[in-house]
Amino acid sequence: MVEDELLKGKVGEVLDSYKGERKDLIPILQQMQASFGYLPRVAMIEVAKFLCIPGSSVFSVATFYNQFRLNPPGKHPIKVCLGTACHVKGGERILESWERELGIKVGETSKDLEFSLERVACVGCCAMAPVSVVDQAVQGKVTPTRVKGILLSFQLEKEKQE
Ligand code: FES
Repeated sequence: MVEDELLKGKVGEVLDSYKGERKDLIPILQQMQASFGYLPRVAMIEVAKFLCIPGSSVFSVATFYNQFRLNPPGKHPIKVCLGTACHVKGGERILESWERELGIKVGETSKDLEFSLERVACVGCCAMAPVSVVDQAVQGKVTPTRVKGILLSFQLEKEKQE
């Protein structure tokens, strides 16, 4: 696939600055994520070849750390805070609301690539708990109804543009 070839080229550019030592795995993955916004499967396979380790080792590191995404980010990334204050104020319930309304699980991206959902630690607005960050905007005192309202406003905005 042409896209895969392009991706491999870009991966090669990242790998050029490393010597192929096992200890470089995490820094390489971090750099890949910074370049692509997530860790494409093809990129992880190339990293495994470069470091002479099994692909499963790269995959298990990528899935172990929350900082790595395995799916491309959506056009509108949604981050649900599950820091202590937000957890106490029902952050899990809010995360479930997002999952239900979007039809995706945390860490996933909707099929139309409009939304992606992730959990984050404290975003520094504890007084507004429970907090979700939608695009770059902090939404405080989020309720399941508010989740529906936010998504409805995106839908209306999209319909206006069509
Ligand atoms: S714990 Fe959520 S903003 Fe601090």
